[in-house]
Amino acid sequence: MEPEKFPIFPWKILIHWHKKSGRDYLPWRDYSIQENELIYRVWLSEILLQQTQVNRVIEFYNRMIHRFPTIHHLAKASYDEFFPYYDGLGYYSRARNLLKTAWIISQKRNGIFPKDSKELMSLPWIGSYTAEAIRSFWFCIPTLAWDTNLEKVFSRFYHGTKYIRISQSEKEEIQKDLFLYLTNNPHITSRNINSALMDFANEVDLKNTSQIQWDTYLFQDGEFFRTQGKKEVQEEKKKLFFPIPDAEIIIVLHENHKTYYSENKDKYAPFIISPIGHRDIRWAIKKYFQEKYNLTLSIRPPKRQWLKNDEKPTILCFAQIQAGHQNFISYERTQFKKHNFEY
Ligand code: ADE
Repeated sequence: MEPEKFPIFPWKILIHWHKKSGRDYLPWRDYSIQENELIYRVWLSEILLQQTQVNRVIEFYNRMIHRFPTIHHLAKASYDEFFPYYDGLGYYSRARNLLKTAWIISQKRNGIFPKDSKELMSLPWIGSYTAEAIRSFWFCIPTLAWDTNLEKVFSRFYHGTKYIRISQSEKEEIQKDLFLYLTNNPHITSRNINSALMDFANEVDLKNTSQIQWDTYLFQDGEFFRTQGKKEVQEEKKKLFFPIPDAEIIIVLHENHKTYYSENKDKYAPFIISPIGHRDIRWAIKKYFQEKYNLTLSIRPPKRQWLKNDEKPTILCFAQIQAGHQNFISYERTQFKKHNFEY
């Protein structure tokens, strides 16, 4: 990022908007409760909010907190005791892993969650987003919990389109910029910032460009406002020319980006489906895994890409198992990362 070209992010405007329009009523944002119970709540909510919509989580979360008010209560619960409070949320390995983490924290760590990102990420179902969310919402460490929503806000602000990803160096610049803002405004916390970004992404930047009310759009300094979303529309049009029915589909089946499943015994290889002849990729993948392996999958939005010098249309999909039992070979992230999708 070139600082002279890119404006500083308008943290102040964001915080001001959030004071009026934020979702402070969300039950896991009640920060008035005791510190040691708060971390349990922050962790529990962040795990439930992965892959599941906020409005759906609220009811499950409230019932869980009522029945299992501390991590020690949850750690003592058997799967059968816990299951009725979880049933309906999908991803049943998540339910087992919630109990596993509760047991680790309660029995092995005296009820204390680690503060360090890497240590947090060694716990089940905690990836980098969740680790940073926990660090910022509980420990108030000035860090950003990067997920696709947050990336969209910054991509639009700096690049005018959600299709140009924020690079690692840009993320570092933004992080530095935030650090400076928080140092100069000690009454604002990273808790405020992360919830404001999440709420802004959810209420304003969720919309597509034609639904946005430009006259009241909040970040009038950014590239998205300057171009009134036109860059994004152009990218959208380009995407329409992609021949989805003729594309080969590559499926990366994983568990929380920590374990990657494959049928290949020697080295990691993704699942591949030949071109399906129509556009409903998610439906085709679901059907394929249901019929062939008796597995129910949840599938992230497909990514279109041209391989082999733009000759081969390919669609890459990340998916997780929601229900069913798999017998695949498990690979770690490092083994998965060695794989390249050019073949
Ligand atoms: N507040 C805290 N964490 C959140 C999340 N992951 N989604 C929405 N609101 C939140």
